Amino acid sequence: MKIVIVYDSDFGNTEKISLAIRDGIGPGHVVNVVRAAAAGNQDLHGADLMFVGSPTHGGRCTEPVRQFIDNLPANALKGMRAAAFDTGMRAEDQGFVVKRAVKFFGYASTRMAPLLQAKGAGETQTETFAVIGREGPLPDGETARAGTWARSVVERS
Ligand SMILES: Cc1cc2nc3c(=O)[nH]c(=O)nc-3n(C[C@H](O)[C@H](O)[C@H](O)COP(=O)(O)O)c2cc1C
Repeated sequence: MKIVIVYDSDFGNTEKISLAIRDGIGPGHVVNVVRAAAAGNQDLHGADLMFVGSPTHGGRCTEPVRQFIDNLPANALKGMRAAAFDTGMRAEDQGFVVKRAVKFFGYASTRMAPLLQAKGAGETQTETFAVIGREGPLPDGETARAGTWARSVVERS
């Protein structure tokens, strides 16, 4: 299977998750990892599955991810599967005010899925990975969980 991982990352946490997804997919697949700001329709040529990952900013994906998706031609993802993932602060780690804000805004991946489907993607699985505080780090076990999730997405393809 040809698989593309498109991601954005300010502090490096979403990048680490993206690389863990790549490594978790395992042998027998061709996997390309591309930063959203440099990604475009040309990166999807012949792909069967695309992962798109973003830090959660105000409950949404970052501007480079949004622009990457917006700039895809209509039906660019037709016949492909997509999966959306994000990183965000765990609500339970936060104080009262931030906890309420995190819960209120939600996470980017659930908002990315309909954008990907609007470009023709079929079933789109979503997942959120935790960061501790704004800049990370990732909690123990989160990259391993990303690898396991990636394999489960690939196996459903
Ligand atoms: C401007 C800004 C807004 C943010 N908004 C949210 C939010 O709404 N919910 C949340 O859980 N985390 C929020 N965060 C924390 C980010 O999710 C966190 O910085 C990101 O997951 C780290 O990933 P990165 O290292 O790949 O940049 C925000 C961070 C920034 C800088």
